[in-house]
Amino acid sequence: MLEVRDLSIEVGGKDLLHDININIPEGETHVLFGPNGSGKTSIIMAILGFKEYKITKGSIIFKGKDITQLPTHERAKMGIGISFQRPPSIPGLKTRKVVEICAKNSNGDVNVSELAKMLNLEKFLDRDLNIGFSGGEIKRSEILQLLAQDPDLVLLDEPESGVDLDNISLLGNMINHLLLKDKPCYERKKLEFKKSGLIITHTGHILDYVRSDKGYVLCEGTIQCQGNPRELLENIRKVGYEKCFECPI
Ligand SMILES: Nc1ncnc2c1ncn2[C@@H]1O[C@H](COP(=O)(O)OP(=O)(O)OP(=O)(O)O)[C@@H](O)[C@H]1O
Ligand SMILES: [Mg+2]
Repeated sequence: MLEVRDLSIEVGGKDLLHDININIPEGETHVLFGPNGSGKTSIIMAILGFKEYKITKGSIIFKGKDITQLPTHERAKMGIGISFQRPPSIPGLKTRKVVEICAKNSNGDVNVSELAKMLNLEKFLDRDLNIGFSGGEIKRSEILQLLAQDPDLVLLDEPESGVDLDNISLLGNMINHLLLKDKPCYERKKLEFKKSGLIITHTGHILDYVRSDKGYVLCEGTIQCQGNPRELLENIRKVGYEKCFECPI
């Protein structure tokens, strides 16, 4: 689904990341760990093609097509969706309108009110986007927009940050819906994951609800190690990222 090949990225005029390789097959969800400021968000922004994140080397292949030079809206149309770490608040723009715009890209019929109900956000549809929303409400609104868009590759930048435990479980279930093959997925006896995901998490709480296949640790501008995401998280919890800097691998 996604292949990030030898990617080097310059941010704010300085070399931030080099030789990043991430390969996410169809149906798999991968997890990106790393200390604050290590460049996790920058990788996601580069995958989406935001201009501030300048690709100086390498390429991004999505569904077999080289999208390295494609504008962001074309990438979204091809089926890449994002839940931002810190999405903007936009006065005068109703949340309903944004969700409707997201839904235009989707293959199926989308009932915006029904989707909002699933995330306890019915009352928020007629409010301006993210204005006065609590941290947890903003995160739910991001997932609502993704459910309407129904992308094939879901990029989630700290989806559970600042979310209470009950709502993490709700978000986890909704993210699973996103990663399933078709909607509605409720009737499916066997969960068949066909979409792909890349999740950034510090706490790992979301991994209690969402299946994860592979993890990466970003350190000192590159992917320092990779492997079973739960084992990586356990090690990070035990020894912190400090040891990553010393790790000889
Ligand atoms: N547009 C920008 N202009 C200048 N510097 C930037 C820009 N975007 C990111 N940076 C810098 O690049 C570095 C990596 O930022 P990034 O947001 O990717 O980190 P992160 O790993 O997501 O951190 P966190 O865990 O705190 O979210 C930081 O030092 C940040 O200040
Ligand atoms: Mg970040």
